[in-house]
Amino acid sequence: MITLGIETSCDETALCLLETREINGITEYKILGNIIHSQINLHREFGGVFPMLAKREHIKNLPILYKEVLNSAKITENEINKIAVTKGPGLEPALWTGILFAKEIGEKLKIPVIPINHMEGHIVGSLISNSEIHIDYKKLPNIEYPCLAILISGGHTEIVKISEIGKYKILGATVDDAVGEAFDKVARMLGLPYPGGPEISKLAEMARNNNIPNQITLPRPMLHSNNLNFSFSGLKTSVLYTLKKLGEINEEQKQDIAREFENSVTEVLISKTKKAIESEGPTTLIIGGGVIANKYIRKAFEKLALEYSLKIYLPVSGLSGDNALMIAMVGALKTNTHSEEIKADGNLSLNI
Ligand code: KG4
Ligand code: ZN
Repeated sequence: MITLGIETSCDETALCLLETREINGITEYKILGNIIHSQINLHREFGGVFPMLAKREHIKNLPILYKEVLNSAKITENEINKIAVTKGPGLEPALWTGILFAKEIGEKLKIPVIPINHMEGHIVGSLISNSEIHIDYKKLPNIEYPCLAILISGGHTEIVKISEIGKYKILGATVDDAVGEAFDKVARMLGLPYPGGPEISKLAEMARNNNIPNQITLPRPMLHSNNLNFSFSGLKTSVLYTLKKLGEINEEQKQDIAREFENSVTEVLISKTKKAIESEGPTTLIIGGGVIANKYIRKAFEKLALEYSLKIYLPVSGLSGDNALMIAMVGALKTNTHSEEIKADGNLSLNI
C-alpha cells in the first residue's frame, strides 16, 4: 500500500510517499520519498508567517515537489493507493492549497483522499524511528496504554490522553499563546530572526555554558493552578516589561533573558505534565511538535520519563517540525477510506 502524504498547514510545503504493510497486526513502513520545502526565508522579513504568501508559494511548489518526490521514490503516480492530506488545524488559505491539490490527483487517479488532523500527525510522527529514505521495512512501535501526548508547537500546547491511536481527549491546553508562539514573540523582542525558538535556545545555552549570572526573574505562569492548562502570554509581557526597564541591553543580558525564559517555559511544561501523569497514571509519553527540537526541553522530558519509569517517544531529527511523513503515516493507519467532502478547518480539534 503506497500513501501520498501532503502537508501545507503553515510555511512548509511537504510531500511524502510511504509504503506500508501489516504483519501480525504491526505496521511496517518504508519511506520511498520525503520532501520538505521550507518558506522560512520568504516569511522572515515579515517576522512571522504571512498566510497569503504561504498560499502562493504552496500553489507554486506543490506540482514541482510532486514530480520530485515521485522521481526520488522511483515510482509512477499510478502506483499510489491513497492520499492523506492535512485538513487542519493551521492557516486556512495554506490548508486549502494542499486539499485542492490532493483532490485533483485523487480524482485523476481514482483513489481515496483522507483528511488528516495535523496534531495527530505530530503524535504519530514521534513514533517513527527514521525520516530518511530506506530500503528495508521498519516497524512502528506497539504502544502501551494509557498514554499521554504533550504537543508543543507554534500553534498548540496541549496535553492529550490517548486511549488508542485515533481516540484522543484534550486534558489541558494553552488559554492564550502557544509555547512556540511565545518563543517566536520573545525572540522578536530581542531582535532575533523568525523562527525564534532555535535562536532563543542558542542564547540560553550560551548563558548556561558561560555561567552568566542570573539577574532576571520571570514568572512561571499557572504553575500552581489546579488544572492542566497553560498560559504564555503573561510571560511574554513580562519579558517586554523587563526589556523596557533595562533599556539598552548587552549580549550577556540577552542571553540571561533567553535562559530565564527557557527555564520558565520548561518548568511549566514539566510541572503540568507531572500533574497529568499523577492523575492519569500513563505507561507511555509521546512528545510532539516543533518545540521539542529544543534540546533543553527534550532533556527535561527524558528526565521526567525516567523519574516515573515511563516509556517516552520523541521525534527523531527531521520529524519534530512540520513534515508530510507524519501525515502519510496517519493516513496509512486509517482503514476507513470512505471519501468525504474535505474542507480546510483552521481550528480542527483532536477531541472526537
Ligand atoms: O510544529 P511546528 O513546526 O509548526 C506548527 O505546527 O506550529 O512548530 C514550529 C514552532 C515555532 O514556533 C518554532 O519557533 C518552534 O517550533 N521551535 C522551537 C525550536 N525549534 C523550533 N522552539 C524552541 N526551541 C527550538 N529549538
Ligand atoms: Zn506542526
